Amino acid sequence: MFEALQEPRPDAILGLMAAFRADTRTDKLDLGVGIYKDSAGETPVMRAVKSAERKLLESQQTKAYVAPIGSPAFCAAMITQVFGKEADLTRLRAAQSVGGSGALRVLADLMKQGRPEADMWVSDPTWPNHVPLLSAAGYTLHSYPYYDAASGQVDVEAMLAALGKAKRGDIVVLHGCCHNPTGADLTIQDWSRVITVLQDNDLFPLVDLAYQGFGDGLEEDAAAVRLMASKLPEMVVAASCSKNLGLYRERVGAAMLLARNESEATRALGRLGGVIRANYSMPPDHGANATEIVLSDAALNAQWREELEAMRCRMVTLRQAFSEAMRKRSNSDRFDYITRQKGMFSRLPLSTAQLDALRDDYGIYIVGDGRINVAGLPEQGMEKLADAICCVLADH
Ligand code: LMR
Repeated sequence: MFEALQEPRPDAILGLMAAFRADTRTDKLDLGVGIYKDSAGETPVMRAVKSAERKLLESQQTKAYVAPIGSPAFCAAMITQVFGKEADLTRLRAAQSVGGSGALRVLADLMKQGRPEADMWVSDPTWPNHVPLLSAAGYTLHSYPYYDAASGQVDVEAMLAALGKAKRGDIVVLHGCCHNPTGADLTIQDWSRVITVLQDNDLFPLVDLAYQGFGDGLEEDAAAVRLMASKLPEMVVAASCSKNLGLYRERVGAAMLLARNESEATRALGRLGGVIRANYSMPPDHGANATEIVLSDAALNAQWREELEAMRCRMVTLRQAFSEAMRKRSNSDRFDYITRQKGMFSRLPLSTAQLDALRDDYGIYIVGDGRINVAGLPEQGMEKLADAICCVLADH
């Protein structure tokens, strides 16, 4: 059995996480894995979530099974959060999932049943785990150009041209906001053009919405999904509560679908329940239950939104401070794009040798494609960081 297994392929992000943990230097800096950090470098449980957990602990009477699709109240709250109060609920359905990744996987499995011949298109670059996760669901993956490193913006023309050549019926993976790893987002006008290409070529959108609330705001970050839902007959969304509720290890997300009509929506949700049952049977409850309380309790909801907004604003401020430090230290405006990007990530133009030097000589950990976690930028050490980056840029 096991002797036949090949060595596992290292995961770019998890490998870096392990290397950081093993580093004994006290002044090391983690700009790797996408976890929000406060100014003390901690990732505390959000206060609204903690209160909800207390309520849950006191009120929960049973740990009996819920259902493969999880809690209907959680799903309804997530549909409103993502699709808005005006959403057409007759055509929308959701299943609680094991984080955003779990949502991606069960939606991919469901679509394999619906359109077994479809290929999938992911942005170049994309979240590294999209590739193994979606390939494991049996898809052939293609990539569409996305990022123009010279301008730090989306290369919309190249993206649309590539999607225009996709086979009819193919599935296009889109980052709903806060593109991971580049932080370069489409404008709402760009999204309209993407929707037209999807319509003209009969392409099906799978939207990965892992960072709602980290870009321009909780409602604003849902604008692209809501525009798509208003124009397209069908779509799916993988939403995550890992980042905006800080529930990373609890694994909370929602696999959502918009169907042509009510009966197709109900049937698709039934099939999705079947996919989940055949996979892990049922999702974990605790984090989703706490989320349900946060989203449904007016006071906790307001507190959570405030906390989330403070996190978002902190990241915007860090972007500005870092870009300013880079401008001063490099004596150029080539890093100004960082302030225009959104969410938790931006990409630095660093080679593997330069990234290795940052890690080995300065204890600075950055993902292999140059992606930095903006929330990890050191409020007090911005100049030192800019100095180290400019040194390796000059020396390697
Ligand atoms: C990231 O991109 O760093 C996060 O989504 C964590 C992960 O699972 O890769």
